[in-house]
Amino acid sequence: LGRELKYYEQVESTQNIAREWVDAGAPEGTLVVAEMQTAGRGRMGRSWHSPKGKGLWMSLILRPSIPINFTPQLTLLVAVAVCRAIRGNLHLPVGIKWPNDLLIDRKKVCGILLESSAEDERLQHVIVGMGISANLEPRDYSPELAAKATSLAIASGRAIDRTELLCRVMLELEQLYDMYQERGFAPIKSLWEALSVTLDRPVAVDTPKGRTEGTAVSIEDSGALVVRLEDGKLVKMYSGDVEMR
Ligand code: BTN
Repeated sequence: LGRELKYYEQVESTQNIAREWVDAGAPEGTLVVAEMQTAGRGRMGRSWHSPKGKGLWMSLILRPSIPINFTPQLTLLVAVAVCRAIRGNLHLPVGIKWPNDLLIDRKKVCGILLESSAEDERLQHVIVGMGISANLEPRDYSPELAAKATSLAIASGRAIDRTELLCRVMLELEQLYDMYQERGFAPIKSLWEALSVTLDRPVAVDTPKGRTEGTAVSIEDSGALVVRLEDGKLVKMYSGDVEMR
């Protein structure tokens, strides 16, 4: 993965460029990287702060042989891969907040966004967007963002070699992706659980339908987060924003 690399100085969003490459028939593993994004996208319609030269803003094209409704599993897989890459490369205590935010000291350092389409079985693809805040400095954040986001450089106190990290991310992704296609979700799930900062914690999950408070108890093969409410009832969350209480 990532051996076919498309590099750009500036784009609106690497997700859009990757989609164009999909339409042009680019093979699985094609990676789009940009120095900056003018309209970086986040989950749930949010924007993604992508200043020039400060991060790894990238989108990877996958053409998995598994059914496309398995993307929640892929989402968790990508979080595990990036988490392992950061830990292996930089030895930082990064953990995963369900479903796929990477946090250090409760602040976000990486966001992941999967976009897919499956109008035609044979053309099915997934675009895996990863935004790793590598070398952002405190002054690169608005006060509002600074309260909830950090960077690898801020957390480690040194400049991050983005190329080295990129290679590591691709290596981890490739290994886990192969493992997933051979052995299914179970091993990925165990790895995710071990890196999770959400399980066994009191959480609040916000969705457009409202807020759910309880304790995060497990994840399911569907990727859902199981939350135990005060009255003992179990509810499954398929999407949403988790806040650790
Ligand atoms: C999130 O946490 O909300 C997901 C953020 C994903 C950001 C990355 S940066 C590269 C790729 N291009 C985008 O426009 N978004 C993703």
